[in-house]
Order: sequence, then C-alpha cells, then structure tokens
Amino acid sequence: MKYTLNLLLFVFLFITACTQKDSSVKSPDGTISVAVGSENGKIYYTVNKENKTILNKSFLGFILKDSELDKNLIIKDVKESSFSETWEQPWGEETSVENKYNQLAVNVEEADGLKRKFTIVFRVFDDGVGFRYEFPEQENLKDFIIMDELTEFALADNHKTWSIPYDTKYYEGLYKAAPVNELDTVCTPLTMETKDGLYLSIHEANLTDYAAMNLYPKNKTSVLKAYLSPWSTGEKVFMKAGHVTPWRTIIIANKPGDLLLSRLMLNLNEPSKITDTSWIKPGRYIGIWWGMHMEEYTWYNGPKHGATTANVKKYIDFAAQHGFSGVLVEGWNKGWENDWTKEGDKFSFTEAYQDFDIKEITKYAAMKNVKLIGHHETGGATINYENQLDSAFAYYQRHGVNAVKTGYVSPLLDAKEMHSGQYAVRHYRKVIEAAAKHHIMIDNHEPVMPTGLQRTWPNLMTQEGVRGQEYDAWSPDGGNPPEHTTIIPFTRGLAGPMDFTPGTFNFTNPVYPNTRVQTTIAKQLALSVVIYSPLQMASDMIENYENNPAFEFITSCPANWSKTVVPDAKIGEHITIARKDRDSENWYVGSITNAEKRSISLPLTFLDKGATYKARIFKDGKDAEYKTNPYPVDIEEKEVTAETVLSLELATSGGTAIILTKL
Ligand code: NOJ
Repeated sequence: MKYTLNLLLFVFLFITACTQKDSSVKSPDGTISVAVGSENGKIYYTVNKENKTILNKSFLGFILKDSELDKNLIIKDVKESSFSETWEQPWGEETSVENKYNQLAVNVEEADGLKRKFTIVFRVFDDGVGFRYEFPEQENLKDFIIMDELTEFALADNHKTWSIPYDTKYYEGLYKAAPVNELDTVCTPLTMETKDGLYLSIHEANLTDYAAMNLYPKNKTSVLKAYLSPWSTGEKVFMKAGHVTPWRTIIIANKPGDLLLSRLMLNLNEPSKITDTSWIKPGRYIGIWWGMHMEEYTWYNGPKHGATTANVKKYIDFAAQHGFSGVLVEGWNKGWENDWTKEGDKFSFTEAYQDFDIKEITKYAAMKNVKLIGHHETGGATINYENQLDSAFAYYQRHGVNAVKTGYVSPLLDAKEMHSGQYAVRHYRKVIEAAAKHHIMIDNHEPVMPTGLQRTWPNLMTQEGVRGQEYDAWSPDGGNPPEHTTIIPFTRGLAGPMDFTPGTFNFTNPVYPNTRVQTTIAKQLALSVVIYSPLQMASDMIENYENNPAFEFITSCPANWSKTVVPDAKIGEHITIARKDRDSENWYVGSITNAEKRSISLPLTFLDKGATYKARIFKDGKDAEYKTNPYPVDIEEKEVTAETVLSLELATSGGTAIILTKL
C-alpha cells in the first residue's frame, strides 16, 4: 500500500514537472484563444476559435548550428497585457486601422546547462494570431546560427489549401488547390478552407534580417512545419541575441472576403519611420513597357528602342490628357545591350542611352504635371546595384523622379542566393531605406514575399511576386487562366499590394499567337478595383486605349481608398470588391468571375443610407465571351441607393466595373 502511494506520488510529481499547466490568452472579443504549455521539455501552443480547434499542440523551437534549442525547456513565467490603438495609413485599402489585441509573453529557459532563454510573444486579435521569438541579450547566447526553425502549425484537419511551391521562380506561379498532406514545400501566404466553413491563412509579418518562411507537411500529415529559405551555404539565419524573428501569423476568418479585410499583418509591423509622408503619393501610371513585352520595342538602344525622348514625350502627353500621374520608362540606361539576365553587373544606373534625354524629359513631364517613373533592372546583381545605390537614387531625385521600379530577373541573386533568403531580405531593405532618404517610392519586382513592411516604410508602395499580366504576352502556356485572378486576392494578395498590371485592351498577339489575355475587357476594368496596388498600372500601349469608351473606367478609378468591403466571394470562382475613394464620396466596384459565366446579386448596403448615387456600370456586352468575343462592353447609367440590389451578369472570364458617384 505504502509502495503504491509512493509510486503514485512520484508519478504525480513527475507529470507536474514534465507538463506545466497551460497559460492562455483570448482575443479582445473572446472568440479566439491561444494556450501555451510544455511537455517533456518542449514548448507548444494551441489555437481555438469558439468551440473549434484551429491548431492542435504545435511545437516550437530551433536547431542551431552547434546545439538544439527546443528541448529541456521550462516556462519561467508568463506576462499578460492588452493593447488598443487606431492608426492612420498614409495610403491603403482604408484610412484607419484598428490594432487591438491581448498579448501573452512566455519566458522560456533551458532547465539546466547553458540556461539559454528566449521569449515567445503571442498577440491574439479578433481576426487571428501572431507570435514571434525574441532573444534577449544574455551570457550564453550571443551570435548564433539557425539551421532550422521548428515552428509547427498542427492543423486540426486536412484542409483544402491554395499554394505555390516554395521554389517557384519569383513567386510567379499558378496557385493550385490541394489538401494539406499532399503539399510539397510551399510559400506563404498559405490559404485554407476548412470543412466547417472557416478560412485560414498562414503567413508572416515584419520580415527583417531573417529568411522567409515556407511550410511543408510533416510526414505527409496535416502538421505543417516551417522551412526557412536557406543561404547557398546551407545556413538559414545568422542571428544575434537582442534580435527577434518575424511574426508568424494565422488569419482566422468566417468568410473568404474577411481574409482580405484582416489588417493583422500590418498591425504586426512597426509604425512608420518616415515622419513626413507628404511626398508619398499613390497614383495610376502607364509605361513604355507592354511594347517591349510584345516585341514592338526593345529595351536596348537601336532602331526599335522604346525609351527615346520622343516616345517618352508622347506617353507624357497621353498621361497628362488622361490624368495618369506617372509614366514608367524601361530600357533607358546602359547595360541592356548585354545579356542582362546573366550580366546584370554591367548595368549603369546613372548613364542613359544617348537617345534618352532625362533632363528634357523630366522638364517636359513637370510642365504637364506628370512624373517619370524610374526603372532599375539589376539582373539580380545586387552588389553592382548596392555599389551605385546612393548615386542612382540621387540621380533620379535630382531630376524630380519620385518613384522607381526595381527588378531582379535572375533565378539567384549574385548568381548564388535565393530571393527569399536572409541575403536578399537584407538587400531589399537596404534599397527601401536608401530610396526613402531620396524621397523615392519603390515598386519592387522579383521581390521576397511581402510581409507588411509598408507600414514602417510607406515608400514601399507595391511589389510583384505574383504571376502578373506580362504572362499574357509571352507565357508558353497561353497566359493566365481565367481563375487565376479569382485566387490571387486570397493568397499572394494577403501579403500586400500587387503590381499585377491589369488593363490590356488589345488581345491580339502577333509574336505569340497562342498566348493572350484570357478575360473580357470588362474584367480588365474590374481588376483595377479587385487587385489592390497604390501604384496601379494601365498596362497596354497607349494607342490601344484611343477611342475606346471603356477606357473611361480606368482613367476614373482611384488608387487610394478610405474603405474596402467584399460583398461576395468564393476562392477560385468569383470575387466582388467595393472600395470608397480616399478623396471623394464615391465608390468603385469590381466584380470578376473564372471561366464560368455567372449572375451576381449585389446589394449596395455599403452606400450611405438616404443618399442617391449615379451608377455608371461597365459590363460585358451582348454575347461577350472571353475566348471568342472578349471586346464588347456596355455602359449603362442609373440612379441607386443603399437599398438597391444590382444584378450583375458576368460573361465567361468576364466582369463588371461600376463607378458610384454620390449626388
Ligand atoms: C520583369 C518584370 O516583371 C517586368 O515588368 C520588366 O519589364 C522586366 N523584368 C524587365 O525589367
């Protein structure tokens, strides 16, 4: 008897020692809860929404170069706190952002030995969870190398996901649907639909001096594990105590549209480091660009050179006439004559071709109240670019240029490092900060996946990292399939603005006859609303817009919003977004569908009650159909109120775009 009692006491003490009681924290509205505990020296967390499990026990920790930092850990103490603020975005999908969360800071330490410590900070919002690891300065952990981050997301079920593989070149891939356990290693945002009707998306926020996080299912189960993009030498991250990891984020939404309205990622970035943001201006732009992709012009100088002073002036005239704020000009600088995707280190960012007179061009542009948008294609040669960075931005600033598109076409930076590794992350940040010093906005092509840095650096306007409209010029697979734009708002779009470059009006492709825009024109219009970018391009050559009444929608559509709502959406099928102009009382609607034609019933409940609006509706015309008859657009006008329910008829891969002007 005595023996049994002793044994029981021992078992009890052993269990208490090995399993510390969970600490938990709930979202401000009480619906989402996170619990943290330890089991056999390993730290785990769980996530629930109301009575639904979102994440089962998900373990945390690291493998370092010389040791492990996931075992023999104890929770020393936990600290709870709450935070609430509303902050204003200088530009964005809405003016004010609510940042309200409850926080649990879990201080963890090795039970014996080196007694190294770190803190895991959880922030629980009404729309999801963010957590990160913080390494305080300490005796036994100084500079260290992370070989693997062991963070898990043990999903409660084998959900349906949409993703692209982690090694997709420049993230320019078509998102595929698959169950969690069939995924390879994939990029975030990883978006999911659960069987009980929730929508989840795992991503990260504030990627600073670290590697981007990818995910793979452990042993083909629905437990996802982090996989950091490595250095060419195999290490994942060179880290220092006193620093923190990016936030790991999970949006938990009741509807697909609510994923798009989550501002969790932005809230987990630091407030703006730029105090005077008056020089940062969203706007619409055109460019000497599609012409190169259609092989009408060349980037390099010669008989078909696109970036000539005369041609640029023509584009400036057109921009001024139609209210575009900028003209992007690619192929203006020396270096394009080389095999630039391999020899990017031959690019000069201060020497123009002799038929491009920047002084004359920018003087002319200023007269017309238009800005030249600069271009720095690096061909992935970041060392060459960094060597010229300051003089390159100073050169543009001297000529009144306030926005630059950067590009990194080459599968590896400096022929060895991934676009998503720590090397690249450091480089891209250097560029954003250097540009800010020269009051220059950035549109970053071939970037690392965005993580909301525009809150801290609002001159980081938009980025590519998406399979954009250019694939409709030359992609051997025929161009972007109709469903592509009904998926990317819920996947890549959750990472931030996309320079997708919609707005092609001429679908004939003399160079690649089997490749073309696979939409109707009305869908091209609607994309200006659906796909958010504070620098929004109208991608076609200007002659293709002349005398087309549908162009009116593009020239009226703002690029900066005070409010966004998503009345209706189904991932991969259709999406309708309504946005309110930042500078007026007017609303703009974009509604698009995949290859299926469909009717959408749109209650205008987002409009001000009691007010009347003039609705100018740009819709697929009679018999419009994306494959054989993409061009017809009908323009209809009627008065509407918040009580009106519009019936939108979308053609196959079609759309409707609406301007709602308050009367
Ligand atoms: C790829 C970019 O996405 C495209 O917009 C640009 O025209 C070319 N690189 C050349 O820089």
